[in-house]
Formats: sequence, structure tokens, C-alpha cells
Amino acid sequence: MPSFKTLTSSHLEECIAILTDLENHYEHPIGGSWTKLKLMEELRDHYGLGAFDDEGRLTAYCLYRKAPGTREIMLLATRFQTHRSGAMRSLIRSLIEDLSENEQLWLEVHAGNLPAIALYESLGFKLTGERKGYYSDGGAALLFEYKPLQ
Ligand SMILES: CC(C)(COP(=O)(O)OP(=O)(O)OC[C@H]1O[C@@H](n2cnc3c(N)ncnc32)[C@H](O)[C@@H]1OP(=O)(O)O)[C@@H](O)C(=O)NCCC(=O)NCCS
Repeated sequence: MPSFKTLTSSHLEECIAILTDLENHYEHPIGGSWTKLKLMEELRDHYGLGAFDDEGRLTAYCLYRKAPGTREIMLLATRFQTHRSGAMRSLIRSLIEDLSENEQLWLEVHAGNLPAIALYESLGFKLTGERKGYYSDGGAALLFEYKPLQ
């Protein structure tokens, strides 16, 4: 069973390692460009939740920002070797359980990122918009929202 913990700047290297491995192996567009500096700023200035295995290794993480009434998911990443084992589903469920009644979650996803889209739909996120040509490869961004009371 994974344990969930708040991430801090001390997790930067593990977050980068997971993301670098994904950039080399993941077959779908992740969307956005993530540098070490950007990851470091997200961990330092905003929020992160991580799933850790029995040996204390980070297996999946979610970076998000808070604003009144809303949380925006900035990045999700699961260690490539453990894809499709339910890690991200349980991590997002944990984030959902932490929402207050009047808080919603939203995110943008590359329209070609089919595994991520399937994940959001399976969790009850609703498609609310599209930004054509949003990413540098010309791909559209799809906007998804999750409302606790919907
Ligand atoms: C998208 C991502 C985070 C999913 O993480 P994961 O831990 O493998 O997902 P889970 O095992 O929790 O899967 C939960 C559900 O998502 C969907 N899903 C996940 N991977 C899928 C795939 N390759 N194909 C189709 N559906 C998929 C399924 O509905 C799955 O449920 P099921 O296995 O019972 O059918 C992972 O593929 C990843 O790290 N991708 C690269 C980074 C990225 O694209 N992030 C999102 C944009 S920020």
C-alpha cells in the first residue's frame, strides 16, 4: 500500500528523475515544458502530493496550485516502471478527498495524452473547454474540471 505525503523541495531530484525517465519512454505528449528550475519553483512556492512505496521511494506525484475555491493540477507523473498499477488513481482520489465542498479541481491536458485523459474521465472529471494550438507542437489543450458536488 502506498503512503501519501506532502512534497517539499527535498523531493526535487526524485521528481526530476521520474520526469526525465518519462520524457525518454512515454509515448504520448506530456504537454508543457518542465525544466529543473520550474519544478523547483513549483515545489517551493506551491503544493505537491507524493505516493511512496514501502521502501520510501517516490512512485507518483501531483503538483498543484491553490486559489480561492479552486486547485489547479500543474503536473502528474508516475514512475514509468509502475504505470497502470493504480498509483495515480489513488493519489488523485486522495487529493479529491481533501477538497472542501466549494472547492473544485481543474487542469489542462494535451489532447494527444490519451492515458491521462482516460484517467481524468474515469475519476469523474468533466471536459469543459479546448484551447486549439495551445502547445508548442500545435496540439490542443483540453480543460477538465472536477467538482465534489457534481
Ligand atoms: C497519466 C499517468 C500519470 C497515469 O498514471 P498511472 O499511475 O499509470 O495511472 P493509473 O494506473 O492510476 O491508471 C488509472 C486509470 O487511468 C487510465 N489509464 C492509465 N494509463 C492508461 C493507458 N496507458 N491507456 C489507457 N488508459 C490508461 C485507465 O482508466 C486507468 O484505469 P484502469 O487501469 O483500471 O483501466 C501516467 O501515464 C504518466 O505518468 N504519464 C506521463 C506524465 C503525464 O502525461 N502527465 C499528465 C499530464 S500533466
